[in-house]
Amino acid sequence: MAFFRFKSIIEDGDQIVVYLSRDYMVPLVVDATKVYHNRYGSFAHKNMIDLTPGKKMIETGTGSGSFSHSIARSLAPDGHLYTFEYHEQRYNIAKQEFQDHGIADLVTIQHRDVCKDGFGITNEVHAVFLDLPAPWEVVASARAAFQQNTVGRLCSFSPCIEQVDRTCKALTEEGFSNITMFEVLSRPHELRQTPLPSIQAAIARHQSQRESKAIVTARRYPTEPKEEDQSSSTETTHKKRKLETGEEDSTLAGVPDKSSTPSESGRVNLTLRPLTTEELNYQYVTKTPTECRGHTSYLTFATWVPQLDN
Ligand SMILES: C[S@@+](CC[C@H](N)C(=O)[O-])C[C@H]1O[C@@H](n2cnc3c(N)ncnc32)[C@H](O)[C@@H]1O
Repeated sequence: MAFFRFKSIIEDGDQIVVYLSRDYMVPLVVDATKVYHNRYGSFAHKNMIDLTPGKKMIETGTGSGSFSHSIARSLAPDGHLYTFEYHEQRYNIAKQEFQDHGIADLVTIQHRDVCKDGFGITNEVHAVFLDLPAPWEVVASARAAFQQNTVGRLCSFSPCIEQVDRTCKALTEEGFSNITMFEVLSRPHELRQTPLPSIQAAIARHQSQRESKAIVTARRYPTEPKEEDQSSSTETTHKKRKLETGEEDSTLAGVPDKSSTPSESGRVNLTLRPLTTEELNYQYVTKTPTECRGHTSYLTFATWVPQLDN
């Protein structure tokens, strides 16, 4: 186990995480004498040992070469990226940049229309990344390019759902499995402050309000009102109080003044004081829109699983 340092080679006795899909990962202690069985097949641990990070991969189209640079760093030092671009000027610029940036040994770029001519690679790569207007046209060629004795991964980046639809059909026809599409949304999180008064503040507010109401009621009804009249009299009192005092409804306006007791002049002070900053207890929250307009892309993933001969 190498929690405290990076390790690029799996050795006997290492604890590893087997990545089967985005939501299916299994921790495993590597034992060269054992075989790991799962729904995809049987995998001898000894085949995982000495597995270097150097993978072989196809990417198309090259475009600016931005993704190629990123992938080249992941495949280094002994993996390889094959990248294809049919736009001559883009091809020339990217080729020069791979040279200038010292990654030409890791990246082979070809000036080629892959939809017409395919990749021209067979039984060699572990992964394929497609960023093309018509990815479905190269799925058969990608299938042939995968190493035929091991599991391979394909990812296709498309802005339109119609492209995803056609690509998924082609992937199904070519025998890919675990086909999963993710919609990539750009969702803003707006940071704001909002008052979150504590329960204590809310209780104090209610108690103070009830005390004030009780005082007003006691003044109006010096003797105990009959039980059956109680609800209607409370309602009437509430309406009258508003009319006579001209005060706002204390349940809405804030916390009643703790000094809501008969004043020296004999009037009940129902003036509500605003909540203090401390009672308001401002907290940072994020707010997201309920609807997201538009999206950046759809990412379609698929797995190439070796076909077993009967
Ligand atoms: C969206 S860009 C790729 C961007 C690239 N991933 C990057 O990091 O810059 C698509 C590229 O695919 C190329 N392309 C489109 N169809 C192609 C084809 N049939 N064969 C080769 N390249 C193609 C285009 O010329 C364009 O440069």
